[in-house]
Amino acid sequence: MTLLPVPHVAIIVVAAGSGTRLDAGAPKAFVGIDSRPILRHALDGVFAAAPAQVIVVAPAGFEGDAETELLAAAGGRSDLGRVVTGGGTRQQSVAAGLAALWGDVTTVLVHDAARALTPSSLIDAVVAAVTDDTGVIPTLPVVDTLKKVDGGAVVGAVDRSELAAAQTPQGFPRGHLESAYAAALASGAEYTDDAALFAAAGHAVRHIDGAARAFKITTPADLVRARQLLSAAPAPAAAIPRVGIGTDVHAFGGEGNLWLAGLEWPGEQPLSGHSDGDAVAHAIVDALLGAAGLGDIGEHFGTAHPEYAGAHAEVFLARTRNLLADAGFTIGNVSAQFQGNRPRFSARRSEAEQVLSAALGGVPVSVTATTTDGLGFPGRGEGISVTAVAMVYPVEQAR
Ligand code: CTP
Ligand code: MG
Repeated sequence: MTLLPVPHVAIIVVAAGSGTRLDAGAPKAFVGIDSRPILRHALDGVFAAAPAQVIVVAPAGFEGDAETELLAAAGGRSDLGRVVTGGGTRQQSVAAGLAALWGDVTTVLVHDAARALTPSSLIDAVVAAVTDDTGVIPTLPVVDTLKKVDGGAVVGAVDRSELAAAQTPQGFPRGHLESAYAAALASGAEYTDDAALFAAAGHAVRHIDGAARAFKITTPADLVRARQLLSAAPAPAAAIPRVGIGTDVHAFGGEGNLWLAGLEWPGEQPLSGHSDGDAVAHAIVDALLGAAGLGDIGEHFGTAHPEYAGAHAEVFLARTRNLLADAGFTIGNVSAQFQGNRPRFSARRSEAEQVLSAALGGVPVSVTATTTDGLGFPGRGEGISVTAVAMVYPVEQAR
């Protein structure tokens, strides 16, 4: 057996935030950019850099999902990674990561998972620039003209040549960083980033050139930018999307509230079924599986899988998305229409579309509803009939 050298560098990837500003229905680290979530892209960059101990700080309850992404990104070096649970603030999350450092580590990088497309060359450059007593941060020049404001008034100019925008990873000598964190814990002070905390303990921080691709995904517009960057490479001529169709019918019946299109509908008669009877979600699953040639819903979620009894749309769709990703497909969009007299859908359409979209990693999902003029079983109010179509792309070709 070959023993690989133990690295002297550790990278703490903080991914425990909730992503309030992104507002994508899931913790930010698990929101999809393409077929892969933000955390996976961040970890791909980390593992493409020189070997380091990698500590992922995950939101409470999402440690298992973080472990899955870590293992996938680590490839052959799964011994290098570990997941710990984060805290209520970024600073607490970093502290949780620091507590998991190996004894041999002398240089610590702290990196936002939200900077998902950070090039590995920037990570290596930060490591190279850290010294025994100096921290290092990547920065970009400020390009906008800056003003001081007070309420509605502009009260002064700011010389932007004195300013720089800070990015991550930020690198530090371990001992000084640990004592700076201990001092912050003792004083109860909260700092805007690790460099500020480190400097407050009296240590020097230098900066190196940052990278445009290391921008932080904070808002929905940032996510669009990341998606555009990933799809910027020209698609080969053979990039042919695939479509799939799915239908589902459920009769009204049983106890409790209706679940349809990922939402609970208090006071509406439920649909009967093995799971929650959500015919919209089920038709979407069949459309996606069909498009990717992966069989159908009965095969993956049927009565032979008791773990899906009573499960809601999020569970079905997230699993379907994973099945497609594993088979090398990314989802383009999904459109579903249900026929039924009830529920009255339009007032909750955007809520339903958001829930279904978030469960599929943020891809566009549209849902429409129609009555059948009193004809057929939907018209007689006996049940609901749904048709869905989905478009998917082979991932290599979608890039
Ligand atoms: N972070 C963390 N623990 C927290 C808060 C933030 O690990 N308690 C991480 C985030 O996961 C992210 C990085 O710190 O990778 C930068 O934070 P930010 O971009 O603000 O992410 P969120 O806090 O998730 O987003 P928001 O502020 O919009 O809720
Ligand atoms: Mg935050």
